[in-house]
Amino acid sequence: MPGSVSAMAANWPKDVGILAMELYFPSQYIEQAELEHFDGVPAGKYTIGLGQVRMGFCTDREDINSLCLTVVQRLMERSGVAYASVGRLEVGTETIIDKSKSVKTVIMQLFEESGNGDVEGVDTTNACYGGTAALFNAVNWVESSSWDGRYALVVAADIAVYAAGNARPTGGAGAVAMLVGPDAPLIFERGLRATHMQHAYDFYKPDMASEYPVVDGKLSIKCYLSALDRCYALYRDKIHAQWQRDGVDKRFSLDDFGYVVFHSPYCKLVQKSLARLLLNDFLTNPDACGGDGGNTELFAGLGAFRDVRPEDTYFDRDVEKAFMAASIQLFEQKTKPSLLVSSQNGNMYTPSVYGCLASVLAQHMPQELAGQRIGIFSYGSGFAATLYSVRVTQDSTPGSRLDKMVSSLYNLRARLDSRRKVSPAIFTENLKLREERHHEASYTPRGSVEDLFPGTWYLTRVDDKHRREYARRAVNDNLSPEAAPGNANLATESLPSPVKKIPRIPATANKPDNGVSDH
Ligand code: ACO
Repeated sequence: MPGSVSAMAANWPKDVGILAMELYFPSQYIEQAELEHFDGVPAGKYTIGLGQVRMGFCTDREDINSLCLTVVQRLMERSGVAYASVGRLEVGTETIIDKSKSVKTVIMQLFEESGNGDVEGVDTTNACYGGTAALFNAVNWVESSSWDGRYALVVAADIAVYAAGNARPTGGAGAVAMLVGPDAPLIFERGLRATHMQHAYDFYKPDMASEYPVVDGKLSIKCYLSALDRCYALYRDKIHAQWQRDGVDKRFSLDDFGYVVFHSPYCKLVQKSLARLLLNDFLTNPDACGGDGGNTELFAGLGAFRDVRPEDTYFDRDVEKAFMAASIQLFEQKTKPSLLVSSQNGNMYTPSVYGCLASVLAQHMPQELAGQRIGIFSYGSGFAATLYSVRVTQDSTPGSRLDKMVSSLYNLRARLDSRRKVSPAIFTENLKLREERHHEASYTPRGSVEDLFPGTWYLTRVDDKHRREYARRAVNDNLSPEAAPGNANLATESLPSPVKKIPRIPATANKPDNGVSDH
């Protein structure tokens, strides 16, 4: 075994984690209730059965590159961080439009003016897990001997579309960008990552000419829940080992998470997942329902399930019903707030779980969040899954990093509400157009530019060699308070630089175009 953890820890930067977050979702959506009617399925199947309210989608004006350009520029403008101060840029996506050229290299266009080409990292792919893998790469870099003192930037983005049929209502689209560095308000808890990876054909994209996956829906649910069980067991083992080392005599349970966020293919699965964690707590301590201590009240009436085997229960209605009922309050407190973006915009694939994290931050006061442990479960089909946790910093004072992060997300609901509703017929036409013209050379998109949010990058042309060109919709064109970079309510102050070494950047380093101060 190379050096001890404590010896290494002496050299790690402090409190490495997420410093700032930015979300982007398309400017149009459909109502799931209207889609039920349009698809001819029983009313309630998508809205109650899957728990979805609305679904965002992209016209042919947007692709994976434009989504990433939009979210990165928005993060950089609003945080006031200079492009020269970024030493690593990672992209997690499963929306592949080129088998060789990374999306990361397309985003490098934003860095050109700064002269900073010294930026490590490329793209990472495994279904919805790529964003988490990218985030881990970024955190690992900051904690490694390769770190040069600059920020890492992580982008998770996808366009989630399914062929017509039962999976279509579980689509969505969007992007999340995260700035990673030391002294963060969301601190990665060291040694608390529990991973389970396994081979399965539950959801995959073997047809390079199509945006659509091949999906075995039921198998994907089974894989997701089995991965959750495995990761939770492993997470508990790891935290117990840490507690034992620190002399803490305690059994980990859901209570030890202030919030738990999950990759959200659809909201009902997330609620079932929270119930599943309670089932796991119960099965490791079944006597608690029978009166020898433990959480008697929570487990009251569950005694009949003390001998069930988790692997027999993925679709067991009685178990599901009993533990959903028992966990209803825990769900309301710890997980429901995370479902804002997911219920309104759908599954964004790689950004889904980070949209959930942002939803928690957006709907709480900094004081409510301070000191909380947030459990984060990331799942990507195929399959790869990790349960890990971040600890929210204790400092929630006005002007603190946490306060800035929370206030930068305060208008999430207003931004979702400012989208334009279209009919399922228009949505279907758009998907048909994407289907027919996907990957075409010498193509000029038809989708409206005026309907995009201000500041959105969009595709202008694909030339005869498949090279893509983009433009950006002006930021101050019909500027709404929600969309305005530099809005007084947003976190516009520069983040203090973590730079220890002077980056090799020319003095002409990038200036944000919104007047926000650089550092
Ligand atoms: N009112 C209320 N609820 C209803 C109604 C109604 N009228 N009709 C059906 N329901 C309920 C069903 O009982 C079911 O609930 P349950 O899951 O609690 O049993 C729910 O609505 C969905 O109905 P199903 O018949 O199970 O749906 P179907 O099999 O047609 O499709 C599925 C669901 C499999 C999730 C599909 O949308 C899909 O394949 N999605 C993509 C794969 C996916 O998201 N997998 C999850 C993990 S992997 C990933 O992230 C991609």
